[in-house]
Amino acid sequence: MQDKLTIALSKGRILDETLPLLAAAGIEPGEDPEASRKLVLPTNDASVRLVIVRATDVPTYVEHGGADMGVAGKDVLLEYGGQGLYEPLDLGIARCRLMVAGEPGSETLRRPRVATKFVNIARRHFAGQGRQADLIKLYGSMELAPLVGLADLIVDLVDTGNTLRANGLEPLESIADISSRLVVNKASMKVKHRSINPFIGKLREAVRATAA
Ligand code: ATP
Ligand code: PRP
Repeated sequence: MQDKLTIALSKGRILDETLPLLAAAGIEPGEDPEASRKLVLPTNDASVRLVIVRATDVPTYVEHGGADMGVAGKDVLLEYGGQGLYEPLDLGIARCRLMVAGEPGSETLRRPRVATKFVNIARRHFAGQGRQADLIKLYGSMELAPLVGLADLIVDLVDTGNTLRANGLEPLESIADISSRLVVNKASMKVKHRSINPFIGKLREAVRATAA
């Protein structure tokens, strides 16, 4: 019997860039996930369904078995932490960098106030440098914080650098190169390996073909 597989994806960039890879692996949603309000979407393969969750919730769904697999940015995975997930494949999509940024000159401050939604990553980064930093948790628009005096620095994702430039900020330090990863629930990997391993193989081929 075919194992039932549930794959967690988030709308936006990850969905846009994952769907072509899934299609190359033979999986296509029954309707357009961006347009649909449904959170559970059947696919052309009766044993595979997609569930739509917030990007930051993908590791939670996968670790706790709400989904067998999912696609999450490495930034989200680093912030989530823990050992609860397998991460068998770098999909090479949604590439960007996690960076410290600020107004020119602010890198030298002795005890900076740092605004970010990645508080765990930022804490580890500054602690690793032996630098004191006061962290301020935000949920978006981090680039605004230095402009209104809420923070001296930000830790955020940077791709083209346009958002930083548009707000008079500059990249100061790189923390990590980011791309999206396939994550797999540990129990599913054991129990459903007959379905999951070939799926990962097909996806790996699709990633290779895209990169070539
Ligand atoms: P949420 O639903 O929690 O607000 P989000 O706004 O972070 O999620 P997206 O903006 O779609 O969701 O980002 C999803 C992932 O895409 C991020 O976790 C990151 O890995 C990657 N990403 C974010 N911004 C960029 C960017 N400018 N360029 C390339 N990849 C990016
Ligand atoms: C992301 C990120 C930065 C921006 C960086 O935001 O949080 O603000 O992209 O990209 P850039 O260097 O090419 O300008 P996004 O556009 O996803 O908006 P969001 O804040 O709604 O996630």
